Amino acid sequence: MGNTENLSARQGWVHYADRCRKYGQPGLVVWFTGLSGSGKTTLALEVEKRLFEQGRLVYRLDGDGLRQGLNAGLDFTPAGRRENIRRAAEVARLFQDAGLIVLASFISPQRDMRTHARSLVPVGAFIEVYVRASLEACIARDPKGFYRRALQGEIKDYTGIAQEYEEPLSPELIVDTEANDLEECVRQVLAHITAALAAQSEI
Ligand code: ADX
Repeated sequence: MGNTENLSARQGWVHYADRCRKYGQPGLVVWFTGLSGSGKTTLALEVEKRLFEQGRLVYRLDGDGLRQGLNAGLDFTPAGRRENIRRAAEVARLFQDAGLIVLASFISPQRDMRTHARSLVPVGAFIEVYVRASLEACIARDPKGFYRRALQGEIKDYTGIAQEYEEPLSPELIVDTEANDLEECVRQVLAHITAALAAQSEI
């Protein structure tokens, strides 16, 4: 990484608390983690729509999206994923500090990556949502046909096939997308976000 010595970030006249007052909400990072095909993006899309309709300032960050822009050129080796998540977490931090509700959907397969993302924002402003579905279910869903190709050896380093996914040990929320339909999963996430927003607003 580049040299970070001899830098001094200037604190602006507009502070985080000013933004929260103006927007009527605190900033929040909702970090969706889980296997490819577990339903992270589907869930985030729906949650974003509902929050937007409630008048919230909300924005989605998604692995597939960021990897076509900011993170173009990063591969799926452990090092590539680490850099992918490091950048995504920094963007999430900035948006949270700007007062937004950030819905971040990344496989983020390693626990320490997610711990790092959490460490960048204030305590209570990070909700880790484990979007849980068994590998068998994800392979059966295979919305993009990537599992089939990974199993045939056409895509290497695929999560769950060639690389491990480390389940969260103590996420704020586990959403089981095998046992529950989309509507129920959305309800669970929204309930948690509403509670977290209220708790943050009291600080
Ligand atoms: S992460 O592991 O670095 O967090 P990220 O969420 O950004 O992954 O990207 C995952 C998406 O990239 C998947 O939904 C899938 O569409 C695509 N993809 C392509 N190759 C792979 C791979 N080897 N492993 C996992 N996902 C892959």
